[in-house]
Amino acid sequence: MDYRHLPLRPAATPPIGREADLEFVRSFFDDSAVRGAALLLTGEAGVGKTALLDAVAADAAERGVCVLRAAGVQFEADIAFAGLNQLLVPLFDSFDVLDPLHRDALRVAVGVGSGPAPDRLLTSTAVLLLLRAVAARSPLLLLVDDVPWLDRATTSVLGFVARRLVGSDIGLLAACRSGSDSFFEAGGLTEHRLRPLDEAASATLLSRAHPDVPPSVRRRIAAEARGNPLALVELPAALTREQRTTPAAMPAVLPLTDRLQGLFATRVTSLPAASRELLLLAALRDALAAFDADDDAP
Ligand SMILES: Nc1ncnc2c1ncn2[C@@H]1O[C@H](COP(=O)(O)OP(=O)(O)OP(=O)(O)O)[C@@H](O)[C@H]1O
Ligand SMILES: [Mg+2]
Repeated sequence: MDYRHLPLRPAATPPIGREADLEFVRSFFDDSAVRGAALLLTGEAGVGKTALLDAVAADAAERGVCVLRAAGVQFEADIAFAGLNQLLVPLFDSFDVLDPLHRDALRVAVGVGSGPAPDRLLTSTAVLLLLRAVAARSPLLLLVDDVPWLDRATTSVLGFVARRLVGSDIGLLAACRSGSDSFFEAGGLTEHRLRPLDEAASATLLSRAHPDVPPSVRRRIAAEARGNPLALVELPAALTREQRTTPAAMPAVLPLTDRLQGLFATRVTSLPAASRELLLLAALRDALAAFDADDDAP
């Protein structure tokens, strides 16, 4: 089997303003001193971690690297090995490169074989052996998004693999929001923090995503979004047609789309009760101030 022709997600359009990050990731894995290494990509919600992973995947595939991808999914977090199943789907037909003991353990773990739950060490070793066999034919890059939402069984196998990559042609790039718990942080692996976009990149993103919005409104959106691409994409979508085209009609507090509300709700619910109360008071104070300002307007 030629692993380089494994199915991939369609190539994404390159993310705006991420040339330096892409270059960092590429050189991290290309540098022979760290060949066979793991890198953790962190950053706030909506900053563009998944968009960067898409770009890394497209770039790697173009260079003949075999890319395997998986992402943690909240509603699969309690299905043991759901993440590993996702990651290894393209290799299901290749388990025969393993000896029968490891092959059968892996088949049971990912749900394509039956039998008693396999030993964790056996499964982890089987994954490592399989990945090494694949990498012997073509360099391999594992991309794992939303690590904290992976099931624990997959998390522990990937942690095991991450610590045994040296000397192989396997790279592992994992992504998670800053501050979330993950096995990589515990392992002290190299971290690359994705920063918000700079002013120029924010302006380019806004003009591409919302060409109908006049520059003065875009400037206000950019100031509120503070370089967060999700906010840059979504904030204009929550405005009425009049607000989008007339700066004077923009409200003092910008409305949020469902996606942005969901994002902030996730952040807020993870805070302690006292912090949530404080946030509520601060939000009410701002909202009342905005209300007063609107009332004073001629
Ligand atoms: N550099 C960029 N250029 C253009 N669009 C971008 C860029 N970065 C992100 N986006 C867009 O912004 C939105 C949010 O990006 P993305 O989903 O990658 O964020 P994230 O960091 O993975 O968020 P989360 O923590 O919720 O997983 C997406 O619609 C994405 O396409
Ligand atoms: Mg993401």
